[in-house]
Amino acid sequence: MTHPDTTRATATSAIDLVGWTPLVRLTRVTEGIRTPVYGKCEFMNPGGSVKDRIGQAIIEAAEAAGHLKPGGTVVEATSGNTGLALAMAASSRGYRCIFTMPDKMSIEKVRLLRAFGAEVLITPTDVPHDDPRHYTQQAERIARETPGGFLADQFYNPANPRAHYESTGPELWEQSDGRITHFFAGAGTGGTITGTGRYLKEQNPEVRIVGVDPVGSVLAPFFHTGEMPEGETYQVEGLGNDKIPGALDLDVVDDYRVVDDATAFRMARRLTREEGLFVGGSSGLIVHAGLEVAREIDDPDAFVVCVLCDWGEHYLTKLYSDEWMAEHGFPLHGEPGS
Ligand SMILES: Cc1ncc(COP(=O)(O)O)c(C=O)c1O
Repeated sequence: MTHPDTTRATATSAIDLVGWTPLVRLTRVTEGIRTPVYGKCEFMNPGGSVKDRIGQAIIEAAEAAGHLKPGGTVVEATSGNTGLALAMAASSRGYRCIFTMPDKMSIEKVRLLRAFGAEVLITPTDVPHDDPRHYTQQAERIARETPGGFLADQFYNPANPRAHYESTGPELWEQSDGRITHFFAGAGTGGTITGTGRYLKEQNPEVRIVGVDPVGSVLAPFFHTGEMPEGETYQVEGLGNDKIPGALDLDVVDDYRVVDDATAFRMARRLTREEGLFVGGSSGLIVHAGLEVAREIDDPDAFVVCVLCDWGEHYLTKLYSDEWMAEHGFPLHGEPGS
């Protein structure tokens, strides 16, 4: 697989612009760290997130399997970015989209989905995942009850990790000239870390695949202890889970780090102000862990990659609002101007 630079100028649809996101070296937040750390700019996908990679892949797999037919409806439980990716891929093919979304998510994300013509049902965040009001339960019900309904089911759909196995992994291998030593990603569904990690390990079993989790998610505690704790609510969006999703294969993961909301948000703000990389809180969370390990290994020959998952504009009223940060008890100490 080679970089399609020569064909990009003649892309025939927005979907063709998904992937081949740049890898950028972090130079300011890495001050005092010798290990090279790079960001994979997934926020530069046309829909603004790493999820663009799975939108078309899921729809094409459903069409091929006969689960999605002309005039059908794509239904999904989504925190926003997958919805946008599915809506982009679905609308050009004439499918209707219905998404369910927990109420902790940014209003910007809801508006964005509606801009693409999708219908959005907002559901309560603080209910157990087996509660009929939970966003995943509601999506299942809607898919069942809607004629021609197809549940994209990103948490269990094998097309999700496969999309990363076929795109994110090969891109990183080629972009690093086979020198990548560490890959840092969060897991929401687990698609990114599983598919990318599997591909990279097949090229070089020594590549370290590191998951990063928000405090409150059950994934890192389960990885370390094999026991399921009670999940707790956290504010970072897009990663972490209150159960182990089917798209996550923990066998490809070598280590799991945990970062709290305040630290994640402060690092996201630093990435914007110091690196010019306008990203969401999950990217801050992943980069914080990446820097922690880069400092520990202190190796100029290593090649550390952190996924920069999504575009910061969705979070202008959240982590990029000083008032919102203060209301949630997230101190801004150490920031220029704070
Ligand atoms: C905003 C956002 N989207 C997507 C992902 C990746 O999620 P998944 O595990 O579903 O591939 C992450 C995790 O890093 C994320 O933070």
